[in-house]
Amino acid sequence: MVVENRSREHIESRVRAGVLEHGTAELLIESGVGGRMQREGLVHNGIELCFQGRRHRMDFRELTGGRRITVYGQQEVIKDLVAARVEAGGTVIFEAERVAVSGFDSEAPAIRFSAGGAECEIACDFIAGCDGYHGICRPSVPPGVLTLFERQYPFAWLGILAEVRPASQELIYANHARGFALLSMRSPELTRLYLQCAPDDETGAWPEARIWEELHTRLASAGFTLREGPIVQKSVTQMRSFVAEPMRCGRLFLAGDAAHIVPPTGAKGMNLAVADVRVLAAAFASYYSTRSWDLLDRYSDTSLRRVWQVQHFSWWMTAMLHRFPDDDGFDYRRQIGELEYVTTSRAAAQSLAENYTGLPMLIA
Ligand code: PHB
Repeated sequence: MVVENRSREHIESRVRAGVLEHGTAELLIESGVGGRMQREGLVHNGIELCFQGRRHRMDFRELTGGRRITVYGQQEVIKDLVAARVEAGGTVIFEAERVAVSGFDSEAPAIRFSAGGAECEIACDFIAGCDGYHGICRPSVPPGVLTLFERQYPFAWLGILAEVRPASQELIYANHARGFALLSMRSPELTRLYLQCAPDDETGAWPEARIWEELHTRLASAGFTLREGPIVQKSVTQMRSFVAEPMRCGRLFLAGDAAHIVPPTGAKGMNLAVADVRVLAAAFASYYSTRSWDLLDRYSDTSLRRVWQVQHFSWWMTAMLHRFPDDDGFDYRRQIGELEYVTTSRAAAQSLAENYTGLPMLIA
């Protein structure tokens, strides 16, 4: 049973991440929920890195022996998952209030909540805490069980959605002296753009003219003209790295943002959540077919191995592409040196491509 505190409409329309790793797209297809993604998702064979007014294509397909990424909004994945669950006769409760989890350190975990004016209680075998960074599951774990690791970044991303055909076929990540910028997309008619901004900036500080001016400046390169269009959505995303260890307390298993956050530069948040859930699903399946706890007992270690590799990649991409407040000429030139290396060394390019398209998914 799925207990969700937002409305179906809210989770199906909220604009979030948009890049699926090769293995994430394959998993959706294998699970029977990839049909619309295959029809509507945009398959990309690479990305571009832009610095010093030059663009360099990273050809993922060639560098990784055929791996690709799919641009398909997280809210579209959510729509497909909810529809499949409802169609299969599963219970999805929306707009649950006062949700609380208890008893997960015993044999009788429970989820309590109120919905539609009624008080409800679900007696569970297990609870999967997939309720995000601000959810109730992680804070319900008794003190002393979890160790938390965290990095705050001294900047944020201003993200916009513009009704205009993307000016590039592929994503462009730009390191500019004025700060990071990213061109992404959601469909052939919708461009998604991001700008590094101050961590306390509010969207009001960014009128349309200022946004376009910065985007033009930071994404400028030979032969490229950014297309402008009506801005239909504007938001500021904080940047943080965070991990809670272990990803389990008794019969409560934390997955996705409930257990870890990555800065968005590597496009990993949703993919890491999918990788956790793949491990957890295999562990539940094994338990229900054989009553073996083996995979459940290994869930946290198995997931954390990937989590820390992805933490490293997301931190590395972030550090390579953003301006930090204390940076001086040395730091900027060092970043450019790193970008020169990544775009000219096959070994370095393969490392980026392998991480970006996604490390192998292991279930144990
Ligand atoms: C997005 O399209 O929302 C997006 C793409 C790449 C990123 C982050 C966000 O690294």
